[in-house]
Amino acid sequence: MDRNLALEMVRVTEAASLASARLMGRGNEKAADQAAVNAMRQAFNDIPFSGTIVIGEGERDEAPMLYIGEKVGAGNGPEVDIAVDPLEGTTICAKGGDNALSVIAIGDKGKFLHCPDVYMEKIAAGREVARALDLRKSPTENLQAAAKAKGEPVENLTVVILDRPRHASLIAEVRKSGARIRLITDGDVSAALATCWKETGVDLLMGTGGAPEGVLAAAALRCIGGEIQGRLVFRNEDEKARARKMGMQDFEKIYSTEELAGGSVMFCATGVTSGDFLKGVRFFPGGAETHSVVMRSATGTVRFIETSHRFDLKPNYGWEQERKP
Ligand code: FBP
Repeated sequence: MDRNLALEMVRVTEAASLASARLMGRGNEKAADQAAVNAMRQAFNDIPFSGTIVIGEGERDEAPMLYIGEKVGAGNGPEVDIAVDPLEGTTICAKGGDNALSVIAIGDKGKFLHCPDVYMEKIAAGREVARALDLRKSPTENLQAAAKAKGEPVENLTVVILDRPRHASLIAEVRKSGARIRLITDGDVSAALATCWKETGVDLLMGTGGAPEGVLAAAALRCIGGEIQGRLVFRNEDEKARARKMGMQDFEKIYSTEELAGGSVMFCATGVTSGDFLKGVRFFPGGAETHSVVMRSATGTVRFIETSHRFDLKPNYGWEQERKP
C-alpha cells in the first residue's frame, strides 16, 4: 500500500475535525456529526485513490453519505478498504468534553472485519501487556496476567471502562481485584489507543462498546503494537440476521487484533476536543491548528502532526460557518 496515502488521509481527518469542532459544546450531537461527515466526504474527493467504505455511517438505506459500500476518493490510485468514524464521540463534542476524535483506517481489500453496527465486548492493552490478554478469561484473571506482564501489583493498573449500567458487574469485579478504574462517558477508540502511551496512565480498556469502534481501534493497535480482542454482542434476532447477511456464522467467536484488522493497515486520527494524546482544534483569527497521529503497520512508524490551517487559502468544507448575529 502506498505509504503516502496515510499522510494524505490526515487532510481528511483534519477536515472532519475542523468542521465538527466548530460545533463543540453547542449541545447538538447530530449537527456536529453531520458537519464531520460532510467535510470528510468532500475531503476524500481531493485524494487520488479508490476507496470502499467498509465501516462507516451505516447501511446504504440509513446513511446518505459514507455508507457501507460507498466508493470514495478521486479514483486513479490504489484500491483500498476504508473504515471511518468522522466524529468518534458525538456526545463528547456536543458537550465540549475530552477525547473526541476524527478517525480513518485504511487496509488491503477484504482485511477489515465486515460487521454490522452492533456491540462488541472488548479488552485492549498496549505492547507490554498485549500477550497477557485473553477475553475467554475473567476480568480478574486478565488483570492478574496484565500485572504479572508489567511486573507490578494489580493495584497499580488503571482500567478504562465506559460508564454504563451494563458494566455494573464488570466494575464491581475490577474494583474487587484492586485495580483502579477510570470511567468514561464515551469514546472507547481513544481509550484503546491510550493504553499504548505510558503518559496517559491507562493500562487496559475493558467492557462493551461499538463493534465498528473495535475494528478502528484494532487498526491502530496493529500499527502501534498493542492488542485488542473482541466478541460481538447481539441484543436481538434482528442484529443476528444482519450479521448473517454479512456472512457471519459463529456468534461466539473471539476476534484477535489481526482478525479485526488484518494485512497492511494505516491509521490516522485528528483531535476534535483535547484528550489523552491529541490536542483538540484551536481556532485563531482566519484559521486553526489541528493535532493528528498517523501510523502504519508495515513499519510501526507513529507520527504526530501539528498543522496550522489558513482558511483564506483552502476550500471551506464547513469550518467557516455563517455566524448569526
Ligand atoms: P458515537 O461517536 O457514535 O456517539 O460513539 C461514542 C461511543 O462512546 C463509542 O466510543 C463507543 O464504542 C460507543 O459509543 C458505546 O455505545 P453506547 O453509547 O451505546 O454505550
